[in-house]
Amino acid sequence: MESVISMTSVSRRYPRGVVALRDVSLDVPAGQFVAVMGATGSGKSTLLHCAAGLDLPTGGQVRLAGHDLTTMGEAQRTRLRRDHAGFVFQAYNLLSELSVRQNVALPFRLGGPRRHTVDEVLAQVGLAGFGKRPVGELSGGQRQRVAIARALVTAPAVVFADEPTGALDPTTGGRILALLRAAADRDGAAVLMVTHDPAAAAWSDRLVLLHDGEIAHDGPAPAAAEIADRLRGVSAVAA
Ligand SMILES: Nc1ncnc2c1ncn2[C@@H]1O[C@H](COP(=O)(O)OP(=O)(O)OP(=O)(O)O)[C@@H](O)[C@H]1O
Ligand SMILES: [Mg+2]
Repeated sequence: MESVISMTSVSRRYPRGVVALRDVSLDVPAGQFVAVMGATGSGKSTLLHCAAGLDLPTGGQVRLAGHDLTTMGEAQRTRLRRDHAGFVFQAYNLLSELSVRQNVALPFRLGGPRRHTVDEVLAQVGLAGFGKRPVGELSGGQRQRVAIARALVTAPAVVFADEPTGALDPTTGGRILALLRAAADRDGAAVLMVTHDPAAAAWSDRLVLLHDGEIAHDGPAPAAAEIADRLRGVSAVAA
């Protein structure tokens, strides 16, 4: 079966000579949870944005759920994301004046596939009974659970998460990571998560380390302490 995410020799050059990604190849099958780590500026967010079709590489090919993103127009890429991808991005803000239920139902209003009900995913993330609450009244951890519910309501083939636990205490962060883990194990989603936290990365199956836009390491995720060591190794090279 084809990988859900398939990046082949992907490069992303910005004007003025910045190369954010160089010759990156990464295949992620269904049900695999991948953590992407690396020093600030190493290209993690660029990798995620290119994998999701939010940004276009300047070289190479990206396939998402069997479709070649790099030959599509903007409208087609938007539809592909709507139908196959869920996002847990700090930048993908919830609409705080809307209720929890309205936020989670947003993908439906945009025409996304109704594969779960809002009540189902709210129960999954431990927010049953919160549907009517305005998102603006929730804690950071509760909001992040709303974001996950919204990402999962279309049962996406792939979930993209950029530092989903960055602003959360360890206990709350652990709940979010358990939900991403379940998306991979129970729903068979491919999960691509950027994080700076070795303890968060330890929830994944596979660790990808970026250094200066290139993959410096790609292998099974070890325990948190060893992840921290590997990360220091890569960052030391960068210094
Ligand atoms: N729009 C842009 N124009 C020019 N350069 C950019 C742009 N976006 C990112 N870059 C550059 O590309 C490189 C990679 O950026 P990216 O945001 O992918 O890093 P990152 O690993 O996510 O860092 P952080 O951990 O700080 O979030 C950096 O050198 C950055 O300055
Ligand atoms: Mg980033």
